Amino acid sequence: MARVRTVFRCTECGAPSPKWIGRCPTCQEWNTLVEEVDVPAGAGAAGLRVIGGPDRPVPITEVDTAAWHPRPTGHPEVDRVLSGGMVPGSVTLVGGEPGIGKSTLLLQLAAGVAASGGTALYVSAEESSQQVRLRAERLGTLADGLWLVSETALPHILGHLDELRPDLVVVDSIQTVFDPELGSAPGTVAQVRECAARLVQEAKSRGLATVLVGHVTKEGSIAGPRVLEHLVDTVLAFEGDRHHALRLLRAVKHRFGATDELGVFEMTGRGLAAVADPSGLFLADRRGDVAGSVVVPTIEGHRPLLVEVQALVTGSEYPTPRRSAQGVDHGRLSVILAVLAERAGVELAKKEVYALAVGGVRVSEPGADLGIALAVASAAVDTALPADLVAFGELGLGGELRQVGQTERRLAEAARLGFTRAVVPSHSPDPPAGIELVRVGTLEEALLAGAVLPRGRRSERATGGG
Ligand code: TYD
Ligand code: MG
Repeated sequence: MARVRTVFRCTECGAPSPKWIGRCPTCQEWNTLVEEVDVPAGAGAAGLRVIGGPDRPVPITEVDTAAWHPRPTGHPEVDRVLSGGMVPGSVTLVGGEPGIGKSTLLLQLAAGVAASGGTALYVSAEESSQQVRLRAERLGTLADGLWLVSETALPHILGHLDELRPDLVVVDSIQTVFDPELGSAPGTVAQVRECAARLVQEAKSRGLATVLVGHVTKEGSIAGPRVLEHLVDTVLAFEGDRHHALRLLRAVKHRFGATDELGVFEMTGRGLAAVADPSGLFLADRRGDVAGSVVVPTIEGHRPLLVEVQALVTGSEYPTPRRSAQGVDHGRLSVILAVLAERAGVELAKKEVYALAVGGVRVSEPGADLGIALAVASAAVDTALPADLVAFGELGLGGELRQVGQTERRLAEAARLGFTRAVVPSHSPDPPAGIELVRVGTLEEALLAGAVLPRGRRSERATGGG
């Protein structure tokens, strides 16, 4: 009797190994190898089944693209991220941490398709149909065209597709779907990958818009199945801080359009609601008279977003004082603190520094450097910046400030929300009406403009020393 061959596979990156080892040699993660039945490529693996005849080469000008146009989903924030809507036959992977709202979002999406006269099948591989119906009732999205099935076996799911012939199928989640033919346990990399590959084939051959839900780990990879990302057309990340209502949807990969658009939602008692004025939401509870607070006009996709950055600086009893960053890149914060100390005399060596972006949002673009630096300096000298001021610009190691893209858009958004002054790098273009520019070449000049330069430095500059 032939022995079943097994292989150890990393649940993070999918790399195989003939024996168990503590650390994956490919992605360097610890304790991620699990034993599973080896499915040699080609041995009936779903990913290799040929469906239909061979494709024929055609001149590029004669390729018919009519079927590949996005169809609006009825949810403008989702359509914005997908460059217009969902393409029939396309496969979208929606990743996000457990509890962030993926099932809610996709139930609303499926209901939207049903409401516009289509047929949507929601395959719940984690919850019962009753649970999903109760949720749909709470969301006010009961519609006849929305079909539910609680199913984890892939062959049954394919059977339901044959029967119902939906316009959209949502599989929630791909990690809990399995194909009994494959032998390995549900949830293993081999299962997840083969099931996804099969669903991709079905999507293409049926022209069926398909959405797969994937849980992601804290580190942000779609749990184990990083391997899924290249199989699908679109990868969407659904993010947010579970303790805040704000949720952001962004395209990480998108074969049918740009990946730089952002959808903004608020989790309410009746599901996810589109946020029409994200900047207004972010700034709603701001107190302008507190030291360490700066408003930064950032750009997310094509969309300007005003985000409040806050900093707190306190004395430390430890030889290595704490540095904490939330929603602000930790490495970037370290660079900014070093430049503040060396180029502008802001003494931070024996201080703890806390920096955060308010509202659970993440500011990662270099344009936020100046705002973060001003917030820290303002906290360090315990002086609030003028409440009507915004600041942005990239900081160099020499303390020099560099222009960043889309200045007009950022300034127009700041003006719309009532800000009247902006500290910006020297060569920034002229501002729109209603906002005055304070052009600065260096970090030190910026701190002087905001009146948060340390006292010693101010007198040095006055005597021509600095
Ligand atoms: P869920 O969509 O189940 O998250 P995921 O599928 O990503 O694991 O929703 C998670 C949380 O959202 C849940 O704990 C409760 C909250 N929620 C609301 O606040 N309002 C609502 O209308 C719904 C349906 C959920
Ligand atoms: Mg869920």
